[in-house]
Amino acid sequence: MKGAISSVAVALSLGAQFVLAAPSDVAKRGSGVTPITVKGNAFFKGNERFYIRGVDYQPGGSSKLADPIADAESCKRDIKNFQDLGLNTIRVYSVDNSANHDECMKALADAGIYLVLDVNTPKYSLNRANPAPSYNDVYLQYIFATVDMFSRYDNTLAFFSGNEVINDGPSSVAAPYVKAVTRDLRNYLKEQKLRQVPVGYSAADVDTNRLEMAEYMNCGTADERSDFFAFNDYSWCDPSSFTTSGWDQKVKNFTGYGIPLFLSEYGCNTNKRQFQEVAALYSTKMTGVYSGGLVYEYSEEDSNYGLVTIKGSDVTPLPDYKALKSALDKTANPQGDGNYNKTGGANPCPKKNSPNWDVDSTGSLPTIPKPAEKYLKDGAGKGVGFSGKGSQWAGTASSSNSTGNGSSSSGSSSGSSSASTTSGAAGQTSSAAASGLVKPFTVSMAPVAVSLVTIVSTLFGASFILL
Ligand SMILES: *[C@@H]1O[C@H](CO)[C@@H](O)[C@H](O)[C@H]1NC(C)=O
Ligand SMILES: *[C@@H]1O[C@H](CO)[C@@H](O)[C@H](O)[C@H]1NC(C)=O
Ligand SMILES: *[C@@H]1O[C@H](CO)[C@@H](O)[C@H](O)[C@H]1NC(C)=O
Ligand SMILES: *[C@@H]1O[C@H](CO)[C@@H](O)[C@H](O)[C@H]1NC(C)=O
Repeated sequence: MKGAISSVAVALSLGAQFVLAAPSDVAKRGSGVTPITVKGNAFFKGNERFYIRGVDYQPGGSSKLADPIADAESCKRDIKNFQDLGLNTIRVYSVDNSANHDECMKALADAGIYLVLDVNTPKYSLNRANPAPSYNDVYLQYIFATVDMFSRYDNTLAFFSGNEVINDGPSSVAAPYVKAVTRDLRNYLKEQKLRQVPVGYSAADVDTNRLEMAEYMNCGTADERSDFFAFNDYSWCDPSSFTTSGWDQKVKNFTGYGIPLFLSEYGCNTNKRQFQEVAALYSTKMTGVYSGGLVYEYSEEDSNYGLVTIKGSDVTPLPDYKALKSALDKTANPQGDGNYNKTGGANPCPKKNSPNWDVDSTGSLPTIPKPAEKYLKDGAGKGVGFSGKGSQWAGTASSSNSTGNGSSSSGSSSGSSSASTTSGAAGQTSSAAASGLVKPFTVSMAPVAVSLVTIVSTLFGASFILL
């Protein structure tokens, strides 16, 4: 596609995305991009409603750990296509927090493109099969270092605190840990006086507890609630419609949800893709509740969801590329504010309903592991990056749960309870909190499923939900 974008297309995609920025912004980042904020249940760019028009950017595929925004050359090559498609957002699943991202982030900003970033890596993530020991200070140091680095870019739109950690009923016992991590990330930004980049969770396409997880992440005290919620959705398979796909029911079920909601992956590929869902997603049938979404995915990999093939430095568009471009070109955002909910706010916590939702919402969250408290005060320092040893069986886990009284200090551990150290070889079993958990996957997936949440979810994320 190199050189294929017409100046008209550039002008169109840039025209909608650039606004005049305050001189201080320009001086600070050299980009002039306006940071995205949350109001009610919507995102805003200044005074204008912001809808995510994005793709998931994972060249090399979900099974290969790569940081696509550490490589300025391939990043700039692909930005031309993002612009040609009329996109304003990309999602990246893992970054090496020891690498420099200035050049790619600046090029994205210059193109009016924002980043939604997963803070985890396969080695630094919660372990859904045994979450308690994996919620430790070594893990938090890694993700704090990541948000420290990326919150300084004005075009970082949002952080995912977790991706598909919960993928069935039994794994919902990990939800308090996901919520604790979300709380800690938000606290880190606040305590370190960094920009309050919105933090939220990206849920798997699981019907049985999607709504409960969404409610759980938006209930309780302000410091424990998320800034937004996202989920993956492959239920619209062309040819389809708003009602045939069941999207009308999902709008209904999420009406009144008080924080922004968007699709972190979409684009069923069962039949020939026409991306008919684009017209629905950016229409007022949905925009009162949803704020757009991210198409899975930019590059063609084994799972066949790609818009382009990448061979060496050559990028070739596939039929899906043209189909998506045509759907997006035909679909403007609604006029005005798209009927968003200006009030927004918390909802009641969902009731425990095992086996689908095995969480006692009246219970308190795990407190931040004691040795990680210093990072909130003094900063996380440098990240160890992809070559780090990993965190799942390292460091010191949380020693207690907060009182849940609603004080703003619910994240910090109180008293002098002794911390339990769970260092050991990977694969070692532990009798910690989640010992009752049943195997989250079918037998064929079991070998990889046990320990690496991120690998598992990115490997199978798009496919297992279609089974
Ligand atoms: C909507 O909510 C109802 C009632 O909780 C539930 O039975 C149904 O599965 C939900 N529909 C979708 C599409 O999530
Ligand atoms: C707006 O959000 C609040 C908080 O969740 C909710 O109580 C209210 O019903 C919502 N309003 C509409 C019109 O959906
Ligand atoms: C904290 O809560 C979790 C889940 O709610 C529970 O499994 C764990 O045992 C509790 N930990 C402590 C130290 O009370
Ligand atoms: C938490 O709430 C209980 C009951 O409302 C109260 O007795 C207790 O003192 C509170 N604890 C803190 C730390 O505020």
